[in-house]
Amino acid sequence: MRISYKFVTILALLVVSASAIQCKSDKKTEVSEEVPAVEASTSSENSVFGKLEDGTEIDQFTLKNNDGMEVSIITYGGRITTLKAPDKNGNYEDVVIGFDSLSQYTKSNPYFGALIGRYGNRIANGEFKLDNETYKLPKNNGANSLHGGELGFDKVVWTAEEMPAEDHSTSLKLTYTSKDMEEGYPGNLKTTVIYTLTDDNALEVAYEATTDKKTVVNLTQHSYFNLSGDFNEPILDHEVMINADEFLPVDETLIPTGELRKVAGTPFDFREPKTVGQEINADNDQIKKGGGYDHCWVLNDPDAGERLAATAYDPKSGRFLEVYTDEPGIQFYTGNFLDGSLPQKGENGTYAKRTGFCLETQHYPDSPNQEEFPTTILNPGETYNSTTTFKFLVK
Ligand code: GLA
Repeated sequence: MRISYKFVTILALLVVSASAIQCKSDKKTEVSEEVPAVEASTSSENSVFGKLEDGTEIDQFTLKNNDGMEVSIITYGGRITTLKAPDKNGNYEDVVIGFDSLSQYTKSNPYFGALIGRYGNRIANGEFKLDNETYKLPKNNGANSLHGGELGFDKVVWTAEEMPAEDHSTSLKLTYTSKDMEEGYPGNLKTTVIYTLTDDNALEVAYEATTDKKTVVNLTQHSYFNLSGDFNEPILDHEVMINADEFLPVDETLIPTGELRKVAGTPFDFREPKTVGQEINADNDQIKKGGGYDHCWVLNDPDAGERLAATAYDPKSGRFLEVYTDEPGIQFYTGNFLDGSLPQKGENGTYAKRTGFCLETQHYPDSPNQEEFPTTILNPGETYNSTTTFKFLVK
């Protein structure tokens, strides 16, 4: 394993050398007053996570902030493998589902921690039209195409570049160019995703893409959270709020019908926080179709830029997650397809049904086929930009 500490700021070196000198002379406190240690401790480190069968090395980068929070990301699928956040007593625990080894990630798994592209969520019948040209996509979810096809952005190797550390944040830049007609999508799509961890425990995910042919794009992040820090605990006691007056009802194959339905009076009303479990088994047609929650909510204030989209709170640990985005929608998925067949990290058992939830910020599913939905078309000369921030607090 190679470990290199890069981009620890000069201030960090100053703190280390200054405190070493001070330890000898036993005057540590004076130095901490002189050197603002708070500005020095964001850092990143990398190591080899594993090798693909063709020998390609997959690296893991760990961003660390001054508060003690850590996020590890691998170049395979740009996946978040661990995210350690404090509970109300200051205990740091991993709050995202994932695996210990690369071989588990490359086997079939439901997009654990992954970047999703080119098109997050479903496209009906695996096809769409642009300027009268029909594009056929891999049908990897019944009749539909899900999350970019067979070899979506979750399964490609991203190029990683550690960015110079800022005073209160540290970032990892990932890039990937998806070739013209890759997985059926037109245009060479140059994609950049920057993960930034800040000292106030926010993980920002900033997406950018450009194309040389008219295409469609809808990028998202597919982390499964369990704020309890215990993956044997179902997420049903988490209290969730979604800032949406409407959601998108779906057909049997989870394609939106085109209707924007009011959440009022339905199990989909999360305008005030309520537990995930409260109505997840309600006798409701949409709940049945999703096998629980697996729907896109129409976020309020679509033109407000990055605004609060959702929150999740685990009363036992006190962990409180805020999700901000500039996207018009959010897919709230309650891990209904987890079935106990995949191993937890640390050999603790398996991931059972509803032991993780996803808050996937995005444009609406099937937008390329639904003209009433906000467009996902990207033209040459335009830049796709989107930002989502996951902020970890305690209550
Ligand atoms: C998304 C989908 C779900 C499911 C998961 C992965 O959240 O909406 O239906 O496919 O990904 O299992």
